[in-house]
Amino acid sequence: MKKLEMLYEGKAKKVYSTDVEDVLIVDYKDDATAFNGLKKGTIVGKGVINNKMTNHLFALLEKEGVPTHLVKELSDRETAVKKVEIVPLEVIVRNVAAGSFSKKLGIEEGTKLFSPTLEFSYKNDELGDPFINDYYALALGLATKDEIDKITELVFKVNSFLCKYFEKLGMKLIDFKVEFGRYKGQIILADEISPDTCRLWDLETNEKLDKDRFRRDLGNVEDAYKEVFARLGIK
Ligand code: C5P
Repeated sequence: MKKLEMLYEGKAKKVYSTDVEDVLIVDYKDDATAFNGLKKGTIVGKGVINNKMTNHLFALLEKEGVPTHLVKELSDRETAVKKVEIVPLEVIVRNVAAGSFSKKLGIEEGTKLFSPTLEFSYKNDELGDPFINDYYALALGLATKDEIDKITELVFKVNSFLCKYFEKLGMKLIDFKVEFGRYKGQIILADEISPDTCRLWDLETNEKLDKDRFRRDLGNVEDAYKEVFARLGIK
């Protein structure tokens, strides 16, 4: 497969066209941003970790019946993916109160929720990805009712699988964000699942093993990413 021109450069990834129909190449960077791009930095080695971790989890999720955009890992930082039309929603599931949820509702971080929650943000950098509900998504024409139902079904399946999987590795999945895409009439999981997009806490100590270490200047950012990667046992 030939990597052709760069189509898009995002905060953490570059996307290239290829000589294969409906296949793109994603190239993961070490660049880190937070607070809608206001805070910028580098997390050395994170591109490799996020690429390999995402591919590892996407392959497992495929076996669980969750369709994903994964085609093939090409190198440490590059992966061939199906060319999807991204549904412009950030799909967030929370198991434990943290981050914006804790702030908005005045609930102490670490409080276990009675049941997992689902929320949507409208993917729009200029507006700062505002919180919306499914009626807004329908009203704005961002997705159809069937698509929202499918996304809901799939993301809770992803959550149940990941909670159990990370728990076996000594980590609690506090919350995560994913994105979905349209591909040949189907809704499939796209984007990534990594310490950039998940909150992962050590099961015993509650130590944060994710991007909050960067967002909140907690130090040992690279070590946290490496720790998650080591626990996953990916070659
Ligand atoms: O900040 P907040 O509490 O809303 O984040 C919820 C989850 O979504 C966290 O795991 C965070 O890493 C993830 N997230 C993300 N990209 C964003 C916003 C949130 O990956 N733009």
